[in-house]
Amino acid sequence: MALLTLPVLVLWTLTLLFALSSALALPMDSADSSSLTKHCTNFLTNPSFEAGELPWLAMVTGSWETRGIWASSSGGHSGSNYYYGLSNSTIETSITLSQSGLSISPGQVNCSAWVASSRPGNMGSTRIEVYLDDVSCAPAVQVGTTGWMKVGGTVGVQDVEGGHTLAVVIVGDVATDEGWSISLDDLSVGSGC
Ligand SMILES: *[C@@H]1O[C@H](CO)[C@@H](O)[C@H](O)[C@H]1NC(C)=O
Ligand SMILES: *[C@@H]1O[C@H](CO)[C@@H](O)[C@H](O)[C@H]1NC(C)=O
Repeated sequence: MALLTLPVLVLWTLTLLFALSSALALPMDSADSSSLTKHCTNFLTNPSFEAGELPWLAMVTGSWETRGIWASSSGGHSGSNYYYGLSNSTIETSITLSQSGLSISPGQVNCSAWVASSRPGNMGSTRIEVYLDDVSCAPAVQVGTTGWMKVGGTVGVQDVEGGHTLAVVIVGDVATDEGWSISLDDLSVGSGC
């Protein structure tokens, strides 16, 4: 008797557990994905360059062969547009892309950017750091040649007059004659993006 009931009990328990977990798991999964899309708050205007360059401001040092909004059928990180810069300098050059006058609710915010970098010949490196109001969102990231990756982190919103400023600072050091290039897309300051 006991030999028969034990496997039956185990089987019954497993069936019940499975039924319970699948009943619980399905509604939780769909609730998670809908709250992810619902809760993306981005205080930036035109964060993915789909509407062109404005109101972004680019400041550069050194020599640049080309820079601005590029459109590609294979797309940026999202959509077709992204910001692209190709520096033809063999010594240090930099580009800072910023957006000012942002109205941001106080508290902790996430600030981030998607970047892709190319350094022909694998010489030197490109340093990328995201700032909100001159406060770094995360330690600088040092890259060579890489596909799309997200950089940035979390920062406390400071009290400033005249709105907040998000800036992505990119510095490329010694390069080959082919220079180095950077692509930027999907910048965000806010949460859940
Ligand atoms: C870099 O590109 C610009 C624009 O095409 C050009 O005027 C400049 O001479 C180039 N500099 C170097 C070092 O190749
Ligand atoms: C976004 O900010 C929250 C705190 O406000 C933090 O817990 C979370 O790790 C941040 N996410 C990223 C990707 O930095």
